[in-house]
Amino acid sequence: MSKVLAALSVSVDGFITGRDPGLGRGLGDGGVLFDWYFSGDTPSQVFDGFNLSEPSARVFDALAARDGVSVAGRNTYDDSGWDQGGAPHPTAPLVVLSHRPAPAHHDRQTFTSTIEEAITVAKEQAGGKDVGLMGGGVVTAALEAGLVDEIVLHQVPVLLGSGRRFFNELPEHISLDIVDVVPAPGVTHLHYRVIR
Ligand SMILES: NC(=O)c1ccc[n+]([C@@H]2O[C@H](COP(=O)([O-])OP(=O)(O)OC[C@H]3O[C@@H](n4cnc5c(N)ncnc54)[C@H](OP(=O)(O)O)[C@@H]3O)[C@@H](O)[C@H]2O)c1
Repeated sequence: MSKVLAALSVSVDGFITGRDPGLGRGLGDGGVLFDWYFSGDTPSQVFDGFNLSEPSARVFDALAARDGVSVAGRNTYDDSGWDQGGAPHPTAPLVVLSHRPAPAHHDRQTFTSTIEEAITVAKEQAGGKDVGLMGGGVVTAALEAGLVDEIVLHQVPVLLGSGRRFFNELPEHISLDIVDVVPAPGVTHLHYRVIR
């Protein structure tokens, strides 16, 4: 059965971007969060052009191979220019969550307007593989709805001080089990299971 997974690069103070992210500006002044994708000598078997350290490649490729579909929030979609087509994963289709209609229609993209609809549609498209969440707003909405199975913090040793948060405000505590911790050059991979 498909699992719902949020695996994002994050600063120690909890930010998934720096200040002023946006189209053409990437993660704003938080670009360091993606340095570990390109600072090793082990090519990813899933993402062309990614060269990671050996321990990071093991973690990253195992997760990337599980993804059958991505669910992105509207900010991630806009900031990444996916209104021109495309998707974050080389093979998985993209489901977008937004209160607003799609600005453009492209193959491999589906717009949805509630988190429940987004996850239902995503699971239908996942072909038995997993659903990968992208964006702090989407992660928080899915956690509130009790729809997240696993969380991975690719934690980069920096305090960014400001930016978009991995987790926004939640109405109550959510307990986690730690599954795995993998230290690697420039990043520590922290893998949790959500207790429900
Ligand atoms: N560090 C990483 O690994 C990583 C990974 C992915 C993304 N990012 C970055 O994170 C940034 C975006 O994160 P974010 O937290 O600002 O936003 P986000 O989760 O991408 O998008 C939030 C938006 O999604 C829509 N949305 C969220 N919950 C909804 C719900 N329950 N029902 C309907 N629509 C809902 C709303 O859009 P509307 O109300 O406007 O329609 C909301 O403003 C981008 O800059 C992206 O590049 C970083």
